[in-house]
Amino acid sequence: MEFLTSLLLFAFVIIDIQVGLFSVARDYDAILYRNAIYAHAGLAKVFGTPMVLTTSGDVGPNGPLPADFLDMFPNTPVIKLLGEVNAWDNPEFRKAIEATGKKQVVLAGITTDVCTSFAALSMREAGYSVFVNVEASGTTTELVRSVSNDRMRDAGVQVLSTFAIMSELMRDWRDTPGAAELFPFLDKYYPAYTMIARAHRAAVENGTVITGEDKLH
Ligand SMILES: *[C@@H]1O[C@H](CO)[C@@H](O)[C@H](O)[C@H]1NC(C)=O
Repeated sequence: MEFLTSLLLFAFVIIDIQVGLFSVARDYDAILYRNAIYAHAGLAKVFGTPMVLTTSGDVGPNGPLPADFLDMFPNTPVIKLLGEVNAWDNPEFRKAIEATGKKQVVLAGITTDVCTSFAALSMREAGYSVFVNVEASGTTTELVRSVSNDRMRDAGVQVLSTFAIMSELMRDWRDTPGAAELFPFLDKYYPAYTMIARAHRAAVENGTVITGEDKLH
């Protein structure tokens, strides 16, 4: 089993997370899902890796990528799929992936069964190591998500969470990027961890052990 071992080796890819497709992602709570796609994008920012963005049929009902999402990548051109269902069938997309010079890609898209799966399977076939962010890929139902993830795994795609991707890329809290760079990321997208960190800081700075607590073992 291969890990996302080296910061130099990977690129992030986001396929067709367009405003008109967002509501198709119903296998997952909409607020959590929105959080997850921005978190996926945020990881690329924190780790300073190349990002490849696509839209499909963006003058039709699929619409554009969210504007605030695009603002995160002011220098990244959006590759417009013109009709290709599989992003890998688009020469501009292949060129953009090749231009990153990376052999490991971390992928997210709408929908999991089509956009994410097709690109993931083709990139596996083309010799890439493919990691799919399970939280940042959305589809219609849990059943569809489940069979899609099975299909990708059968082809050697690794399906994992945002926190797993973050931790695997970071490897050690003492590294750079490490705790200092990732706490702001976690505070935005994974507050369970930073709320406890706040509580810990407050306790260290101003805290007192109250009666009862001192008896706990
Ligand atoms: C500790 O108490 C001081 C004084 O009340 C306050 O300014 C500071 O924000 C507190 N620290 C935390 C982490 O709550």
